[in-house]
Amino acid sequence: MEITYHGHATVAITTKAGHKILIDPFFTGNPLADISADEVEADYILITHGHSDHIGDMVAIAKRCDAMVIAMVEIAEYAANQGVKKTHGMNLGGSFTFPFGRVKLVPAQHSSSLTIDGVPYYMGLAAGLVLTIEDQCIYHAGDTNYFSDMQLIGREHLLDLAFLPIGDNFTMGPEEALLAASVLNAGKVVPIHFNTFPVIEQDATAFAQKLPTGTGQVLQPGETITLEKS
Ligand code: NI
Ligand code: MN
Repeated sequence: MEITYHGHATVAITTKAGHKILIDPFFTGNPLADISADEVEADYILITHGHSDHIGDMVAIAKRCDAMVIAMVEIAEYAANQGVKKTHGMNLGGSFTFPFGRVKLVPAQHSSSLTIDGVPYYMGLAAGLVLTIEDQCIYHAGDTNYFSDMQLIGREHLLDLAFLPIGDNFTMGPEEALLAASVLNAGKVVPIHFNTFPVIEQDATAFAQKLPTGTGQVLQPGETITLEKS
């Protein structure tokens, strides 16, 4: 499969079978985004939590592409209420097999709300995603603190790739992300959620260099990697 990073926490996956999966589609207002919300294609949109830098362009893209929104029940209900036709609500610990692969929602230590006209609305609990797609296992941590149960995620899943926030301030910073990486034991670690805004500026290369040799990979917005069993 092909995996493209679009800056911040936005990740696009195209499977060998041709399914297009988009995680946390934040294009409008994202200074790092390499393309616009009007250009991206998606069959499935996966959301980790309700904050605007993650829900982002979810509704517009889902409507234009007739994509299915997969997220915590509260976010799925919000999407349906906004006119998205295909939604699939889940909750923590739950897995479901979709045509492209299996999605599991795992805990994240973070808040989750969507602010509309200055008022924050409850969007359920924040989640991380464990995706099993074409024999590859991918963990997208969403926004989270480092928490000790990450070792359970690493123990239960042979992770090929982990997307970890390193920005600090809103999520764990690089030091905690190194701790997270050590218990997750993923084949590759890609830092996300940094440099989008001044308060989350980080040296991602320095972070990647502190990871076990060969595991850290810094992706530039627009950069694509191929993930397949070797
Ligand atoms: Ni957040
Ligand atoms: Mn965020």
